[in-house]
Amino acid sequence: MATDDATSNVQHTVTPSTAEVSISSVMTEKRKFPPPADFALNAHVSSMAEYEKLYAAAEADPDAYWGGIAEKFHWFKKWDSVLEWNSPYAKWFKGGKTNICYNALDVHVNSWRKNKAAIIWEGEEGDERVLTYGELHRQVSKFANVLKIAGIKPGDRVAIYMGMVPELIIAVLACARVGAVHNVIFAGFSAHAITERVNDSRARMVICADGTRRRGGSINLKNIVDEAIVNTPSIRSVIVLKVTNEEVHMHNGMDHWWHDLMGLAADECEPAELDAEHPLFVLYTSGSTGKPKGILHTTAGYMIHAASSFKYVFDIKDEDIYFCTADVGWITGHTYMAYGPLLCGATMLMYEGAPNYPQWDRFWDIINRHKVTILYTAPTAIRAFIRAGNEWVTKHNLSSLRLLGTVGEPINPEAWMWYHKVVGQGRCPIVDTWWQTETGGIMVSPLPGATPTKPGTATRPLPGIAVDVVHKDGTPCVANEGGYLVIKKPWPSMLRTIYGDNDRYEKTYWSDFNDMYFTGDGARKDEDGYIWIMGRVDDVVNVSGHRLGTSEVESALVSHEAVAEAAVVSRPDELKGNALVAFVTLKDEYVGDMTLREALRNHVAKEIGPIAKPDEIRWAKGLPKTRSGKIMRRLLRELATSNEIKGDVTTLEDFGVLENLRDQEND
Ligand code: PRX
Repeated sequence: MATDDATSNVQHTVTPSTAEVSISSVMTEKRKFPPPADFALNAHVSSMAEYEKLYAAAEADPDAYWGGIAEKFHWFKKWDSVLEWNSPYAKWFKGGKTNICYNALDVHVNSWRKNKAAIIWEGEEGDERVLTYGELHRQVSKFANVLKIAGIKPGDRVAIYMGMVPELIIAVLACARVGAVHNVIFAGFSAHAITERVNDSRARMVICADGTRRRGGSINLKNIVDEAIVNTPSIRSVIVLKVTNEEVHMHNGMDHWWHDLMGLAADECEPAELDAEHPLFVLYTSGSTGKPKGILHTTAGYMIHAASSFKYVFDIKDEDIYFCTADVGWITGHTYMAYGPLLCGATMLMYEGAPNYPQWDRFWDIINRHKVTILYTAPTAIRAFIRAGNEWVTKHNLSSLRLLGTVGEPINPEAWMWYHKVVGQGRCPIVDTWWQTETGGIMVSPLPGATPTKPGTATRPLPGIAVDVVHKDGTPCVANEGGYLVIKKPWPSMLRTIYGDNDRYEKTYWSDFNDMYFTGDGARKDEDGYIWIMGRVDDVVNVSGHRLGTSEVESALVSHEAVAEAAVVSRPDELKGNALVAFVTLKDEYVGDMTLREALRNHVAKEIGPIAKPDEIRWAKGLPKTRSGKIMRRLLRELATSNEIKGDVTTLEDFGVLENLRDQEND
């Protein structure tokens, strides 16, 4: 079994000659956890040998591999070619006609799964709804008819701005059924963000709710939409779902109640027979500079990778209850809530609200009550749970869990160990899944019945996915040498472009490395071929001539018993080029003082080496994060450099956290 108590051996391994062209990696994690034998026995892929065989076959003949997966779906007309690649533009399954909504619903309704639960929904106040595949199909068909009555045609863009209620997924699937292109806008975004996204995609309709519940209160979403659409000439109508009974103003001719329109719509709606490359959705993601990028995904390639990656990474079985804590406003919610689980006929649990409402044990309480078997969440949530204390977790019976997943950021090895021990009780494999809005689906991840895991690495690429770590000139790095993470071959769920901006698409992803997709991430590949993500290359710092991934210094800090969360950035320093500034959130029972500062500096020096010792440590009650939970290091860099913030803070979740992060060395 696993070498549970082996220590994390974090060492300085940089060689000065490579520091110019690559990124120094300073972390070597020695712990290794093979899949539990009983898990492997029943898994879809149950050994490394089986994985290697699949990987080699996909590499030798990608067309046969992807074509073989595509055969399992329903096509109105079969494709003529699997891939037409005109770099950097891909056409997958050209000539084929299909419908992703048909594959997610109708195929199950025509099988024994008709009365199986598709969505088990729990509201923040504890209310529950269960939608079977049959019922979901009926609601989606009705709403697809509503869209048609409202004049929505294939290819029209539809913006969706709602909290986490089943109707959000119903709206998404209804768009797919009629061939409309959905653009889900996370319900935490401002009026300005909606205006920007609606105008960029020239959406014709907004589907929203009157409000959304949040931590016992509610937010009026319709008022925000009203403010946003003053400046959106393309919008013709707004459909409003009643959720919170907010007071809202309905504009004559423009605004319609969801329930009124559903009352008029028929139960059956033929799915549109769409080209394989028909646009499915646009999802906006922030770039490091400039306006958000509208990432465009299309129908068939996205469909087959969403479904097959879901099946293999989560080892999904019909008996599973799968709980993904993401919001449908992000790509994780698109691929692994709205589409992947339904395409596989799975049962998914959808929770409306906050993880700490009414208390810090909400997720664990949900898992116990619904007997959840698979949990997929983010490192930011895991770190928050660590901070809140183990007792919130351990007081619940989590024996139904068999698999855990994480996504969104590098997971610090100590947070991984906590997830493994406290949540998984040492029993559940962890799939650390690396991917991006742009990749559409998981690219690098363990297969839980096959891949031995190591805390902090997403391990190996999925079959059919060709990732590598390269130098600036595109030549491959040797084992354990840090470099740039690239994808060397097209894959079916890849973005097709940035909506309306092919130039930006080519420049952002395809201009740094000849004919390879650049992910923007730094990484290293270890001696087992495992990929260790070192964060965005923007988060790389140069200290005394060594380029360090700040995430590694963060992991060293988090491995100290007092630390719950840490973010490390650099500020210019005359002597060293850059000095490291660490923002540290302590566990509740610890107090930040000079002694602890010194102890943490020494701890990092011991774990990594003196070069990585933070020059300054600031105590933080919380760290500034985007609404999807990523730490906004850009703001921290500004604070560290000038003690003030002039840059854009519109994506910041909680403005309060910035207050106490200024210079504190004198306190
Ligand atoms: O830096 C990587 C990080 O998140 C980026 C993609 O962000 P986004 O498009 O918002 O999608 C997040 C959900 C798929 C990546 O470039 N990232 C994502 N997953 C991981 C990760 N970093 C390390 N390990 C992961 N498992």
